[in-house]
Amino acid sequence: MALMTNLLDEVARLAHAEGDSDDPENHARLLQSIHKLQLAAEKPIETAKRIMYQPPTNIAVRFAVELGLLDVLVADGRDGPMSATLLAESTQSEEILFGLCDVLRPWAYAMKMALADTPPTKLPKNSPRKDSRMAYDTVIPATAGLLGYLTAFGRRVPTHAEETPFAYVEKATMFQWMEKRPEQRRYFDSFMAARRREAPRWFEIWPVSDTLKSGLRSGPDDVLLVDIGASHGHDLMRFKERYGSFPGRLVLQDLPETTRTIHNLAEGIEAMAYDFFTPQPVAGARIYYFGTVCHDFDDDSCVIFLTGTADAMERGYSTLLIYDYVVPEVGASVRAAAMDLQMMVLVGGMERTEIQWRAILRASGLDLVRVWSLPGASESVIEAQLL
Ligand SMILES: C[S@@+](CC[C@H](N)C(=O)[O-])C[C@H]1O[C@@H](n2cnc3c(N)ncnc32)[C@H](O)[C@@H]1O
Repeated sequence: MALMTNLLDEVARLAHAEGDSDDPENHARLLQSIHKLQLAAEKPIETAKRIMYQPPTNIAVRFAVELGLLDVLVADGRDGPMSATLLAESTQSEEILFGLCDVLRPWAYAMKMALADTPPTKLPKNSPRKDSRMAYDTVIPATAGLLGYLTAFGRRVPTHAEETPFAYVEKATMFQWMEKRPEQRRYFDSFMAARRREAPRWFEIWPVSDTLKSGLRSGPDDVLLVDIGASHGHDLMRFKERYGSFPGRLVLQDLPETTRTIHNLAEGIEAMAYDFFTPQPVAGARIYYFGTVCHDFDDDSCVIFLTGTADAMERGYSTLLIYDYVVPEVGASVRAAAMDLQMMVLVGGMERTEIQWRAILRASGLDLVRVWSLPGASESVIEAQLL
């Protein structure tokens, strides 16, 4: 009881401090305390059941996305829940679906309430609900295959994309699978862009202006930034908006199947089809950047492409930046642990601790200079230079 009242006081204090402020550290601590309070209040069986019944909720949300349910609710504009009959009519579905999917109704109602003050015209066009499709279509079947995989191959951790639970279920690596399903590749790319919307970008964590204010080369061939595995360039475009006055070329690198689907790239950003397991063609750039790429790979693969990058770097001028989780040795967040599992299941990758980062960087001829983090941000920026 004392634990619960202490937590209740903590939640009240943090909620009060939150007020209208936008302090991400306070916000993160508030959510942590609420989570602890829920665990303290729940009986163990209630915790077990809450987790056990999570998958149907996830599937119901994916179903709602497929139906465009949120758009229907927002467009409808009424206060309070829509009846199953109306929902069925508006989505050309059998009413019984809504009757059976009871789980969908509270979710839909909650979303409607949450958006009650947001006129439909103010909703982002490419809203996160659509971008979440990758998290369901790609992740859930593969994760469900983990048990079968571990039973079939022994209890060992996959270290290559070819031998993951994903490959066990789909008979192809995740990227091969997406190559045959362009719509899934689109969901993947838009998920990559969307999940960053609320999170600080690498250049909001790493001190760009302080670091680049002197010594930056400004010749026509000089490269300021190479974003390696940049997807459609969402980070590069934001970087350009903010730091477009810095001299130097901005280079986007990704596999040809990605670069050929890039449209509307901001002027001044060069797209280059490149496989990072081959030698890096851009030498002596000021910054080489990998955004959530390394966690897709096992240590040996990371060492191959980080060594290739180190070979292109210029001593005393080039910096390598990596944006990924730096997981604490103890007390990792549930989200970091879930991402670690997800990376293993999908691609044979992993999240890493600082000690693990130091080890793969050193094996690639690089020295970890500093880990830059922001309170409340899940990923950090790892800065490295040539040894
Ligand atoms: C997890 S996404 C990260 C995208 C982006 N950097 C971000 O932070 O959102 C990994 C990206 O690496 C690309 N990629 C995977 N293997 C690659 C390779 N061998 N060479 C170049 N790019 C690769 C993928 O196409 C994908 O766009």
